[in-house]
Amino acid sequence: MKQVRQPQETFSSTVRIVLPNDTNTLGNLMGGNLLHWMDVAAAVSANRHCRRVVVTAAVNNVSFDRPIRLGDVVLIESQVTRAFHSSMEVYLEVMIENSATGERCRCNEAYYTFVAVDQLGAPIAVPGVEPQTDEERKRFDGALRRRQLRLILAGKLKPAEATELKALFDEGQSTTS
Ligand SMILES: CC(C)(COP(=O)(O)OP(=O)(O)OC[C@H]1O[C@@H](n2cnc3c(N)ncnc32)[C@H](O)[C@@H]1OP(=O)(O)O)[C@@H](O)C(=O)NCCC(=O)NCCS
Repeated sequence: MKQVRQPQETFSSTVRIVLPNDTNTLGNLMGGNLLHWMDVAAAVSANRHCRRVVVTAAVNNVSFDRPIRLGDVVLIESQVTRAFHSSMEVYLEVMIENSATGERCRCNEAYYTFVAVDQLGAPIAVPGVEPQTDEERKRFDGALRRRQLRLILAGKLKPAEATELKALFDEGQSTTS
């Protein structure tokens, strides 16, 4: 298995059109359907990173900023930001394309966490990530803090052990005091 991968190698792009079966009674895309499409796109990125079976461990920072309407074209782009031991953080961006003008606007972003597992469902090691661009480096750096936050919320990390997250709050306090 490769020891490291670049985020671009894990890039995945999905295009969907919102059909009547995907909508709520207002004619907008159901949030759960969008989460499902995002989950599949993110799983493709995570699999491209490790080439193993991956399972969704957590979904974070999803917000539905604007309704997506019947007939809209939905584009979902994802790539792995960082890998730890067996887990990988995947960043997703959702855009709507106006089918008449081709104009695109960003309507969602999210972070999903996947874990690579063996045939018995036990976590296994994955390659590291080598960011190439400034944006990839920024997401790579932020991934450690986001991981600490989600593990605290899941009751899997003591707040006192979240050193990078704590440093961020300490930094904020020193600039406001
Ligand atoms: C995800 C899963 C494999 C983790 O197994 P586990 O026994 O908790 O294993 P560990 O505690 O050793 O954690 C393994 C990795 O998962 C990560 N993890 C566990 N729970 C997590 C959570 N809530 N959020 C983010 N990462 C999590 C750990 O940080 C660890 O990452 P690392 O190896 O990179 O350090 C297990 O909980 C599972 O199978 N969950 C169900 C997955 C699934 O079916 N998803 C579809 C939703 S229905």
